[in-house]
Amino acid sequence: MNIELLNSELVKINYLNEIIYFEELDSTNGYAKKNNLSSDTLLITSNQTSGIGRFNRQWKTTPSKDLTFSLIKTIDIRIDEVHLVNFYSSYILLISLKEYLSAYNIQDISLKWPNDLIFNGRKIAGILLDVKDLKNDLKKFIIGIGINVNSIEFSEDLKIKATSIINEIKSELSIEMILILFIKNFFEKIFLIQSKEELMKNWLMNTQIIGKKINFRKIEDDKEQPATVLDIDLDGGLKVKFDDDRVKKFYSGEISLLYN
Ligand code: BTN
Repeated sequence: MNIELLNSELVKINYLNEIIYFEELDSTNGYAKKNNLSSDTLLITSNQTSGIGRFNRQWKTTPSKDLTFSLIKTIDIRIDEVHLVNFYSSYILLISLKEYLSAYNIQDISLKWPNDLIFNGRKIAGILLDVKDLKNDLKKFIIGIGINVNSIEFSEDLKIKATSIINEIKSELSIEMILILFIKNFFEKIFLIQSKEELMKNWLMNTQIIGKKINFRKIEDDKEQPATVLDIDLDGGLKVKFDDDRVKKFYSGEISLLYN
């Protein structure tokens, strides 16, 4: 990891206060939860050994090949709008990757509710959001991001639903350049969090799930139910219609697209 490059691009010109780097760390979100890091700190490791995914799943990466980091950011936001930080972070990640990949004429990266990035139908990045001081107006967010950049090997069970950028475009990319673009875009467009109509409109323009047949999984019971996506509301809720015509809105859960 070229920390010198990250420092000169991101700290000296005032995007970040500090970059904390560990060659190896169990989990960047775990570390940020246990330690009181100040806002505008980037915590990054080359080898995350026990990465945490949503619903306490494991997040696996190849040392030095992929990106695993947490951005600490204090944001003044109401409790019922906290979901916007999720949508904002995934949208910024998407535009940053598109910007970087524009030279390769890549169009097929999109967003999947609530905050996954999909490339040619499979997941390339995920976001895990932790919030401290939930009761205060000023909330401290730990925005944990994992991006499969240069990993080539995936286990049999992961292969069906996950891929990496290198496997899709057949070129090795600079993890530092992706991170620099993400951080710059994140700080430059942060006003979007206060403008939820515009943010959600941008998010919706970059998803392919509206109108699609999906399997919806509630995490509590792990059951999958086929449904059609109707919309995503300003409050982040996913509106679906089940095959028996019931319409419901969900605020958490997981979807997988059905291609047929
Ligand atoms: C998901 O399940 O889609 C979310 C994956 C989030 C993984 C990232 S990697 C950096 C940060 N530290 C962690 O332990 N998890 C997040």
